[in-house]
Amino acid sequence: MKSEKHILVIFGASGDLAWRKLVPALFDLYVQKLLPAQFAVLGVGRSALSNDEFRQKMAIGVEQFASFKHKPRETVDEFVKYLNYYAFDTMNGAEYAGFKQAITLLDAQVGTGGNYIYYLATPPSMYSIIPKFLNEQGLHDETHGFKRLIVEKPFGYDLATAKKLNAALLGQFEEEQIYRIDHYLGKETVQNLLVTRFSNTIFEPLWNRNYIHHVEITSSEDIGVGNRGGYYDGSGALRDMVQNHLLLLVGLVGMEPPAVMGSTSLRNEIVKVFQSFRPIRQEEVEKYVIRGQYTPSVIRGKQQKGYRQENGVASESRTETYVAMKFFIDNWRWAGVPFYIRTGKMLPTRVTEIVIHFKPTPHHLFAGNATVAGSHNKLVIRIQPDEGLLFKFGMKEPGGGFKVQEVNMNFHYTELRDTYLPSAYERLLLDCMLGDSTLYHRGDAVEAAWAFVDPILKAWKENPEIPVHGYPAGTWGPDVADNLFDEPGFSWRYPC
Ligand code: BG6
Repeated sequence: MKSEKHILVIFGASGDLAWRKLVPALFDLYVQKLLPAQFAVLGVGRSALSNDEFRQKMAIGVEQFASFKHKPRETVDEFVKYLNYYAFDTMNGAEYAGFKQAITLLDAQVGTGGNYIYYLATPPSMYSIIPKFLNEQGLHDETHGFKRLIVEKPFGYDLATAKKLNAALLGQFEEEQIYRIDHYLGKETVQNLLVTRFSNTIFEPLWNRNYIHHVEITSSEDIGVGNRGGYYDGSGALRDMVQNHLLLLVGLVGMEPPAVMGSTSLRNEIVKVFQSFRPIRQEEVEKYVIRGQYTPSVIRGKQQKGYRQENGVASESRTETYVAMKFFIDNWRWAGVPFYIRTGKMLPTRVTEIVIHFKPTPHHLFAGNATVAGSHNKLVIRIQPDEGLLFKFGMKEPGGGFKVQEVNMNFHYTELRDTYLPSAYERLLLDCMLGDSTLYHRGDAVEAAWAFVDPILKAWKENPEIPVHGYPAGTWGPDVADNLFDEPGFSWRYPC
């Protein structure tokens, strides 16, 4: 579906996000004819760039990062004509009158009817400043055309700052105008979780404490912090990955079926899951949450830096690059079912997957089926890469006797011929253009997620004796994370 005519303003347009993700995603929408005819991008930044310079820079991004990057050069040239640039100091309220003139002029030239989307791709310190100045210029007002505001992560630094930011935004824009982005919600395979659960009769009856033994979610990366050390050292894996992406996955696995597939219904159900997390008290943090940091090692003959040797990272840093934790959702469906989640940088492979571990059969009839841990069915939902679904079940080993072996039923997205998997930003930008906030976070969900994570952050800050376990780069994180499983025979799955 095509969206209505509009101007997309990218604040922070000379930064990495615009170049690597946003503009390439717009190009992919353009190639698929999903952009309206009356459309323009207005890049805003401090660097003094002409329209042409901005277009040239963005064309390089498109050619490197767009899914349709192999399209002929003419297609890129046609597309970049949509891009415009306006330089001003967004910290300075006095300069917004000039910005208003620029956008009004562009609006008149292109005929976009006063419909504006503002994308805050800036440092987080600007998230409450820009909306305030837009509001002062009346650029939030929907009397003539819609006005929408997309806010990038990180949304807050802890519960207090997230609440403050929500309050600041809601002072300038209405909740319905605010789109808080979590790019995990834009992933096709994450959305497919809902379809897997709610369009098949076979899963939902089993999706509860009666049949599920535990749920495991892993999001591992095989790269370090690269050139983001400066940002990451003040953040860490709990803020960077758990508070947003991983808890979102828990929300989608844990939620009740929404009454309809709509923004309010779906988001109500996610919030209910977040509000049902059993709080981890500060004194329990050491028992339930393991943090780690990668140390130097040699991977396939190549010396690999430790986290503390990365650019922008303090030499004595205690920032975690790995988190593993166990917790519970205290509600009717999930009472007593442990959720294990972990994420880390510099692990052996890049994979994000959810594993539903079903309970073992109540009685063990067959050889090879004798241990609880070895005999249970598993549903592996592969978010990335090699997106798909894998079901593991027991089958008779051919030959004499009744010996059970574990076999796989496997579906890969790549088997769907001619199916194009849109990038997360492509899907989310299009949804915002269509005015659909279903796949964006609501303010209360963000706060509920922070409320869960906050005691952990506090415990780490106030108790330096809680260890930051070192793990050699290229390994699966600290061994002590295995101790989170207290039943014999159970442990993490180690995907390859
Ligand atoms: C980002 C984090 O939100 O997600 C990064 O800031 C992380 O540190 C990235 O690498 C992972 O996203 P994806 O889509 O590659 O799993």
